[in-house]
Amino acid sequence: MNYADRVLIADLKRHVEKEVMLAGWLYRNRPSGKVQFLTLRDGSGLCQCVIEKGKIDDDLFDKIKHLGQESSLAITGTIREEQRSVGGYEMAVTSAEIISESKDYPITPKAHGIDFLMKNRHLHLRSQRQWNISRIRHTVVDSIRRFFNDDGFTLVDTPIFTTMAGEDASSLFEVDYFGEPLHLTQTGQLYLETAAMSLGKVYCFGPTFRAEKSKTRRHLTEFWMVEPEVAFAGLKELLELAENFVSFIAKNVLEKNRAQLEQVGANIELLEKIKPPFYRLTYSQAVDILTGPKTKDFMAKQLEEFHQQKKQIEERLSQLEKEQKGSIKQWKREKNAAEIIEIKADLSEVETKIENNPKHAQLAADFKWGKDLGGSDETIISMMHDKPVFVTHYPKEAKAFYMKTDRSDDRVVENFDMLAPEGFGEIIGGSVREDDYDVLVARAKDMGFKPEDYDWYLDLRKYGSVPHGGFGLGVERTVAWMASEKHIRQCIAFPRMMDKVYI
Ligand code: 4AD
Repeated sequence: MNYADRVLIADLKRHVEKEVMLAGWLYRNRPSGKVQFLTLRDGSGLCQCVIEKGKIDDDLFDKIKHLGQESSLAITGTIREEQRSVGGYEMAVTSAEIISESKDYPITPKAHGIDFLMKNRHLHLRSQRQWNISRIRHTVVDSIRRFFNDDGFTLVDTPIFTTMAGEDASSLFEVDYFGEPLHLTQTGQLYLETAAMSLGKVYCFGPTFRAEKSKTRRHLTEFWMVEPEVAFAGLKELLELAENFVSFIAKNVLEKNRAQLEQVGANIELLEKIKPPFYRLTYSQAVDILTGPKTKDFMAKQLEEFHQQKKQIEERLSQLEKEQKGSIKQWKREKNAAEIIEIKADLSEVETKIENNPKHAQLAADFKWGKDLGGSDETIISMMHDKPVFVTHYPKEAKAFYMKTDRSDDRVVENFDMLAPEGFGEIIGGSVREDDYDVLVARAKDMGFKPEDYDWYLDLRKYGSVPHGGFGLGVERTVAWMASEKHIRQCIAFPRMMDKVYI
């Protein structure tokens, strides 16, 4: 069989009323007497293929009837439009070839816990939800490159083995480099600053490593980060670049992945709002909000909503459990079992929120100017907004040594975080860089760094220093936010987390 002649399910609109060959994997089979409804997936989409008894060899018809999920097949037939069918087209099958049988595929339509799915990640990637997320991630990554390439930036690949810390030194992965200690990169920024002095506008894009002892749904130990760096830029220009950039990604995802967004249950209305200008708050304004009456009322209202949600979830759960005790069809039992697992996870999540709400409200009320904003503080601020919000001008002590001291208020630096709305939290961190040699050396010393370890970085401030800055955007967090996926581990094919690396 020559599979080169096959057509892709995504292209079926060009083949209506024609006989074509599809090749893929058996996603689902619904035999119904003399007809079988096979759903085939081929990597580009799903198509229902209808096989009538008598139209193909009887033995083959029976064999296909008993084929296991994920068996591979080549199927030939005529394409017709069918609104009720997945994807809008259907194939009337005229011949079929079983390429390879799959028996006892471990991931069945019935319920599986996350541990089981992660251990079977190599197969789980074939699931519809993962397929949808992979397509969305692809658009996010493609849009990132397009945005910078079309805006006069030059891509500079920064090293993975690095000689110095860019961010928090406690989150470095040390490697033995022929007897010498080196680190896996936490950020390409310091190298990128040097490249910006050659090329003006540059960006790097690659894997980044953080040995953060954090098991939250927003932390991976290996994640992808894109970092632009611009010579002759101040905070205003950087904020404008960041909001145009994020809006461009959102627009492309909406244009290219609407079907996938709908299937994963993303909040499309919210995505449509991602347009400049984003909200802007200074850190001091954020602290006033956190410690003021607005947050107190907001948290109390949230708690009420969580209790309401809990009640609804419990009602649905008890209804499902009651159904399971009665006599129902097997498919319904399996569907219910899957929903029960999901609903129990939702219940435990809302219970955690109920437990955390008073603690987070207290943390916010007691917040003291000078501390970095914690995850819960960011969540509160981001929940109060319906589109992204920039928080700027953090206290020096809370931030990295390379950030530029604000010359009009030397307690703070010219930095920003971009928080995604509705509680999602930080997506971007960035700043103007300190460009004065003496100020930078003093800052590095204050923070316990030895300036001699940073000699090449300091050189940039000796030979034609210019104002410059940039930011870093985390890809997995962006995908999770846009796809309304709770845990960023689902937004990279092979996640690495502090507590587990599965495959
Ligand atoms: O705020 P961060 O640490 O900024 C930097 O690394 C700067 N050097 C970037 C720059 O100015 N060039 O990280 C930037 C972004 C975060 O906002 C977040 O989206 C992502 O990187 N990020 C993580 N994503 C997943 N898991 C983690 N452990 C992450 N840590 C940061």
